Amino acid sequence: MGKIWFATGNEHKRRELAEIFAIHDAAHVVNIPSDVGINFAPEETGSTFLENALIKARTLFAIVKEPVVADDSGLCVEALDGRPGVLSARYGNTVGKNLVDAEKNRLVLKELGNNPNRKAHFVCAMVLFLGDDRFFAVQETLEGEITCEKRGQGGFGYDPIFLIPELGCTVAELSPTKKNHLSHRAKAGATIGRVYDAVLLG
Ligand code: IMP
Repeated sequence: MGKIWFATGNEHKRRELAEIFAIHDAAHVVNIPSDVGINFAPEETGSTFLENALIKARTLFAIVKEPVVADDSGLCVEALDGRPGVLSARYGNTVGKNLVDAEKNRLVLKELGNNPNRKAHFVCAMVLFLGDDRFFAVQETLEGEITCEKRGQGGFGYDPIFLIPELGCTVAELSPTKKNHLSHRAKAGATIGRVYDAVLLG
């Protein structure tokens, strides 16, 4: 079984990517920097998801000098001009105070209020980084709507307020396996898994 570096500090994302690869028969152990004591917190100074994914990938590649997968993701709400967007992980933070997921969800619900336009999408930019001048990039989405209140216990981040209208449930109400078949990360990870196998395993 191959070992893939994933440039994240987020355990939820690691578990999801490992299951996404497994679903697509790309059985790889997904290693993250903290597994080997690397303190990984690059500054996400990009203005797009792709720029931030590349920052994370370059940072870890410079340390491990092996192929690296990185993603940058977030929630874009149409009536909020695309916010939280690239700031999704840091949304509502102020100096000295970082909001937890439940607080960020409450903030989005408050900002949206009774607005009838609930349209939103998740974005996942993912890169397979093989060297300073060689990488593969993909960006995918999951379309949905913002609920009026949180629902469900699964997933992480904004999952409890993100409704998939065709299924009639939020992402937090899906089983992990179902989420890993249809999410923005699932779609991006499926492609990156295939590219990894094609380019690195032949
Ligand atoms: P980053 O990609 O680590 O910079 O952070 C992305 C942030 O977007 C997370 O901290 C979550 O708040 C949100 N996010 C990204 N993907 C998901 C998802 O699959 N479900 C819910 N929230 C997500």
